[in-house]
Amino acid sequence: MNLQLLKDTAKLLFADHKGLLAMDESNGTCNNRFEKFGIPQTVEARRAYRELIVTTPGLGESIGGAILYDETIRQQKSDGTPFLEVLIEAGITPGIKVDTGAKELAGHPGEKVTEGLDGLRDRLQEYFQMGARFAKWRAVIAIGRGLPSWGCIEANAYALARYAALCQEEGLVPVVEPEVVMDGEHTLEQCCEVTDEVLRTVFSELFAQRVVLDGMVLKPNMVLPGISCTIQPTLDEVADATVNCFLRSVPAAVPAIAFLSGGQSAELASARLNAMNVRFKSRLPWALAFSFARAIQQPALEIWNGSQVNVGTAQQALYHRARCNQAARRGEYSSDMEK
Ligand code: 13P
Repeated sequence: MNLQLLKDTAKLLFADHKGLLAMDESNGTCNNRFEKFGIPQTVEARRAYRELIVTTPGLGESIGGAILYDETIRQQKSDGTPFLEVLIEAGITPGIKVDTGAKELAGHPGEKVTEGLDGLRDRLQEYFQMGARFAKWRAVIAIGRGLPSWGCIEANAYALARYAALCQEEGLVPVVEPEVVMDGEHTLEQCCEVTDEVLRTVFSELFAQRVVLDGMVLKPNMVLPGISCTIQPTLDEVADATVNCFLRSVPAAVPAIAFLSGGQSAELASARLNAMNVRFKSRLPWALAFSFARAIQQPALEIWNGSQVNVGTAQQALYHRARCNQAARRGEYSSDMEK
């Protein structure tokens, strides 16, 4: 294993308070998002949208890495330039989603396990040769009556650890994403309890599979109540619950924690990340960064709406969100930036 390469990549992704742009929606997820706006669900529409993202002027000022999907890593601009070349030229390190999706977990109604380990070594080798330097695998943990089960947490943690070990062997930084999802009525305290247990289990499995913590990135949920919970916390309450939970369960050797947005609005995601950095930054062992998909893309997608004439304005919206999140990493974001 080339540990120096892994450490260098992890450092590069988050240098200058940059973060990750998740644009690795599977075709199904991307089509669902397009459907809401009546955008055609075609290969060409997905390609055009991805071209809008990767050609956004100045994106590399605040984005250190972009997570692609298998279809996207092979696509090109309309003039034939590969997206990979465009990203590298912009100073953005290409990454790739390598799981093959969350499937029903046998014997565990309402729970899922993420698949994709079969043949993974060969796929990682191909992606590395293409130019990818990091990878992503997302596990999904739901909170509900009697959920999550130990079996679900354990199966997902084991798969994450096997994936991470394979990535490190092949020179790709694993972005380890155990997502405790926001659906439901659960409280902030319940999310904290579950996130804590999930993270402890994930790190125990990472340890068992000999994953080197200095050469990985954690991509967790923020600690939040369910979207249907009647009590919604303040920014500071979210910041305290999240960071205190991680201080108990995430080893100091991990270089960076890059949050997913999980369905929060773009502005709330920035404000909450900012609150964490304002309150804790000077005393944390890891960088607190972002790896948002919806909270960084949504405003741009809405403006674009499938139409070429909107590309420039949509790109400005994407650039703006990236800048807001970079400011949040510094603890310098404020709602004035949204005016
Ligand atoms: P969201 O930020 O939309 O939750 O997506 C992050 C991600 O990469 C999910 O795997």
